[in-house]
Amino acid sequence: MKNIIKMDEFMHQNIWYKNLLANPTEIGALFPFGAETGKLMTAHLEGMDEGYILELGSGMGAITECILQRQVPEDKLILIEKNKNFADYLSHKYKNANVFAEDAANAKTLLEAQGICEVRHIVCSLPFVIMQQEQQLSILDVIFKLLHPQGCVSIVTYFIRCPISKKVLDQYNKSSELFGFTMKNIPPAYVYQIKSGQR
Ligand SMILES: C[S@@+](CC[C@H](N)C(=O)[O-])C[C@H]1O[C@@H](n2cnc3c(N)ncnc32)[C@H](O)[C@@H]1O
Repeated sequence: MKNIIKMDEFMHQNIWYKNLLANPTEIGALFPFGAETGKLMTAHLEGMDEGYILELGSGMGAITECILQRQVPEDKLILIEKNKNFADYLSHKYKNANVFAEDAANAKTLLEAQGICEVRHIVCSLPFVIMQQEQQLSILDVIFKLLHPQGCVSIVTYFIRCPISKKVLDQYNKSSELFGFTMKNIPPAYVYQIKSGQR
């Protein structure tokens, strides 16, 4: 049994590092996020009882696991991950979730094709800081068009500043707040929450 778990872990790491080497700027992190970061990233899901949760940049599911621990039903989970190998891994692991091997910028079109026009909350670990500004803006436009008016987007970053500028947030009447910080991540991580209105 122990050997099977070790083999599983080895295969998991093998897929991560192979893809990281092939595409470092798109993956944007040396290691998957840790459980403490996942807890901070999913705090806004506590007690929610309806609607879909959209996760952008799911990788191999490090934060997806924490979303499920918040009692979100798997079939209410929408995972968008551009890397095909990661998306295949996710589809295999989360058989009832809605997994798309796609660019986050296409989220609105993809979801509308499934009859989903709105999501309750969003969990996002896309590497915004190293993204082209144009790409960042098109993803944000989609995010804010899909988000429920009282919904919340959590975003993780390795820097103290929110990766989304105030100017862009103002355009959508949103504001960001530093929700938490953890040293139990390599490197340490900051989590921001973005909601409607000014704070
Ligand atoms: C920093 S990693 C986080 C992965 C995972 N959430 C974790 O905690 O381990 C960012 C992920 O976003 C994905 N990604 C990058 N750009 C993307 C895009 N435009 N659309 C969808 N996924 C993207 C990468 O392939 C990578 O899996």
